Amino acid sequence: MDIQKLLGKMTLKQKLAQLSQFTCDVILKDAQGMITGPSAAFNLESDDAACVGTIQSVCGAEITDKIQKLHLQEDPNKIPLLFMSDIIHGYKTIYPIPLGMGATFNENMLEECCRMAAKESAIGGVHVTFAPMVDLVRDARWGRCMESTGEDAYLNSKMAAAQVMGYQGNFESKYNIASCVKHFAAYGAAEAGRDYNSVDMSEHKLREYYLPAYKAAIDAGCEVLMTSFNTLNGVPAAGNKWLVNDILREEWGYDKLIISDYNAFMEMIEHGYCSNGKEVAEKAMLAGNDIEMMSNAYISYMEELVSEGTISEELIDKAVLRILSLKEKLGLFENPSRTASKAEEEAVFLCPKHRTIARKAAEKSAVLLKNNDVLPFSKDVNKVTVIGPYANKGMNGAWFGLGNEAESVTVLDGVKKLLPECEVTFCEGYKAGFAEVAENSAELIEEAVNSAMDADAVILCIGENTFESGEAFSKSNIDIPDAQVALVKAVTAVNRNTAGVIFCGRPLVLTAIEPYISAMFVMWQPGTEGGNACANLLFGECDFEGRLPMSFPRHVGQCPVFYNYLKTGRPQETPDGENPYKTRYIDCLNTPLYSFGYGLSYGEFEVSPITISKDTVTRGETLNAKVKVTNVGGRASNTLVQLYVADVFASVTRPVKELKGFERIYLASGESTEVEFTITEEMLKFHTASGRFEAENGLFKVFIGFDSETENKTEFTLA
Ligand code: GLC
Repeated sequence: MDIQKLLGKMTLKQKLAQLSQFTCDVILKDAQGMITGPSAAFNLESDDAACVGTIQSVCGAEITDKIQKLHLQEDPNKIPLLFMSDIIHGYKTIYPIPLGMGATFNENMLEECCRMAAKESAIGGVHVTFAPMVDLVRDARWGRCMESTGEDAYLNSKMAAAQVMGYQGNFESKYNIASCVKHFAAYGAAEAGRDYNSVDMSEHKLREYYLPAYKAAIDAGCEVLMTSFNTLNGVPAAGNKWLVNDILREEWGYDKLIISDYNAFMEMIEHGYCSNGKEVAEKAMLAGNDIEMMSNAYISYMEELVSEGTISEELIDKAVLRILSLKEKLGLFENPSRTASKAEEEAVFLCPKHRTIARKAAEKSAVLLKNNDVLPFSKDVNKVTVIGPYANKGMNGAWFGLGNEAESVTVLDGVKKLLPECEVTFCEGYKAGFAEVAENSAELIEEAVNSAMDADAVILCIGENTFESGEAFSKSNIDIPDAQVALVKAVTAVNRNTAGVIFCGRPLVLTAIEPYISAMFVMWQPGTEGGNACANLLFGECDFEGRLPMSFPRHVGQCPVFYNYLKTGRPQETPDGENPYKTRYIDCLNTPLYSFGYGLSYGEFEVSPITISKDTVTRGETLNAKVKVTNVGGRASNTLVQLYVADVFASVTRPVKELKGFERIYLASGESTEVEFTITEEMLKFHTASGRFEAENGLFKVFIGFDSETENKTEFTLA
């Protein structure tokens, strides 16, 4: 298709409609897709509706085909629609929420999951997914922590690239779909963890922590970028010319599609940044946005802006060419149905191969926080008691696509399947939900205690329901609910052989239950195969591999709490945090309950002191840091060896340490191996006081250990 020639045939109004995205009811009355925002009815004129460029949140081979065909009958230019949807952690076969995938520290696993999701999406008629979401998160109160891969820019950057490659590949397959990195920028830093709230930070902080993962997605070839709802330093991202045009378009050279978030253009009026729709259209276009999602500022006001000379039509032409070239790249002009196939839906959705991928991802995402000789349970048991409503329902989490919890394996089902000869008893234990539910908990607890008394093993599923996190689900209180705490105390008092399984879409405060429970792990929201994965972990069919991608606070009052903090002029040295006139709370330690990078496995490992190849390196030189790791436990197992670096003195204060590498190793009992990291000058670069991205001479510390609290360290100097 000659898209320049096609552009030449289009009227200005048709171009503006091409740059607009609505839900499918603007084309097919009473057709309904997923609702993902404040539903707004658009009384589009029929000519505009006929020329809309993209439709969001409708999935399914039949419905997308029907809408496409209807549209092509109406559109005078016969330009196929682009279908975009939120395929965040699976289309029909759901794998763990992205925070859980961050916990795998396994970008290959995540890429494989995204490739699977892309195939199911392409068959379901989806062309673009609104993923990866790469917003760095440090505040556990925010509902969308579940959608991020965590608090570290290095890990998030690797996971961002893996997702883009998983969805897009090189478009060599008809099952590849385009990805859309979001939400640009720094949406995860919403003040007080409250969704949609304002973001205010220095350019240094923005560039050091919040921007790298978007850049990683773009460098991996991401086809679309979504601007965010939030203001950044007082200016809404959708209208933020410095952020979108100056950094993204000019400094980074990003010349692909930019789409707004849901009605975010018109929300610039609510923000108090624009006084009317015409100003919205002008500021959004000048900032560099191409597609307007779920609002009609471009359609309604852009003609006037062009006719009065405020906006040049060539700016609009460039935007239209971007969406036409993506449609071209996806082959839509030749084949508007692309890969949509009802027949393949039946064959591929939830197929054994996809379920296996989802199960492995769920197994690798789980993070073992505590295990005092309780896990793995023996499979040679006669009675197992499974407690908690979350053990008896599919736990897909928010943004579950077309996943259906009824098609997900529950913990109860998983345990019964693994132990067909065993008596497996279920007790509700407490009422599900996030309201403080106190009624009849005494009866529920009594029933659970009676059942646990003579059980060989007790599985106690607690934490958050699937819908306690996600967009617009921020919380001021992230404690384990009192009813669940009472249950933990009562059950563990009668049976020490109890394992806590924590479902959550964010870090929760586990301080109240930690002293009572002898073993517990985080299962996040594990998706379609969660129950089988959980059973395999509990009974040792597989080992734990997950590590925390986000710190778990001791108290919500610590939020935001994260591992790569700045030292301050009065760092707290004493482990009990009691030093007066040093940075501290008088009622809580500074450290989180569980730190970034932390997680146990069924093995036990030791790491040697670090040997370093040079004490001093010059520019351009690399050095090697090596350790010997030994499995001193009684069984084969795995661990994640992590490399952290600290720049001790610099032109701006630097974090106490930063993740710069990690390597998973598997060792037999008693076996040792060497793990070596190469440290490059690139790893030492940061945004200096001069604003340049460079390394500065001086002293550096190298840490190699099993989590971010490791003090296994040595030093070198960059000369
Ligand atoms: C929502 C979300 C965004 C999503 C979009 C379309 O409000 O903020 O992540 O992709 O709208 O559903």
